[in-house]
Amino acid sequence: MPIAVFDSGVGGISVLKNLVEIMPHEDFIYYGDSANAPYGTKTLEEVRKLTCEHAKNLLIDQHAKGLVVACNTATSAAVRILREKYPDIPIVGIEPAVKPAVLFKEHPRVLVMATPMTIREEKFKKLMNKYSSQGEIIPLPCPGLMNFVERGDLYGDDVKQYLEELLYEYTHNEVDAVVLGCTHYPFVRKLIQEVLGDDVRVFDGGPGTAREMKRRLAEKNLLDESDKAGTVEFQNSLDGTAHEDKIMLCKTLFNKQI
Ligand code: DGL
Repeated sequence: MPIAVFDSGVGGISVLKNLVEIMPHEDFIYYGDSANAPYGTKTLEEVRKLTCEHAKNLLIDQHAKGLVVACNTATSAAVRILREKYPDIPIVGIEPAVKPAVLFKEHPRVLVMATPMTIREEKFKKLMNKYSSQGEIIPLPCPGLMNFVERGDLYGDDVKQYLEELLYEYTHNEVDAVVLGCTHYPFVRKLIQEVLGDDVRVFDGGPGTAREMKRRLAEKNLLDESDKAGTVEFQNSLDGTAHEDKIMLCKTLFNKQI
């Protein structure tokens, strides 16, 4: 049985790479809801409904043995509901890696880049409150940033200009760390680092999320113990040629060094 990985689009492929690295014998289905992306500027109800529909398709219709919600936005909107609906299936979400970022040095200034919804939601407010005595946490909504990645535009002048303007007041080492609180952002990590400067530490929740999924599957004896090479199947909600183009982009991003 495969492990399902879900995102609003191609961003969760950054987490899929972490998953495949530590579970190379597993089969994965990666589902991107690019037809409805972006999620980060939608209402809570819309994101909940879409996430629940796709989870049902992956867990019930396609019999996945576990689900990684590889989207910070969908996690904050729906992961609690999904766990209530499917209490026996390992379901792991992703949240901005605030904890390692505030703990990496004494009272750091930490910039958290995420979608407007992730930053607005209760889950993030709780996370911020929990660690606010250990560092200065600065939430930065980045509406539109995921669209560049969704188009495969990782290095162009447009995305560079977007980041330069968005991050202007934090350049010249104004912050100690940056948290990539949306799974699309690791694909523009190099540019973000370039704009903020080499001394800024970058944190990404993907590797921790992948480890958590492995732990949860092991607990239930669901890990594939064979030594066969695992497979990855890309699925997407778009139709026609847009679908074909998106699957091509998925494969390119999956094979990309980030
Ligand atoms: N990749 C998603 C996340 O981690 C969100 C992108 C979006 O659909 O706005 O938050």
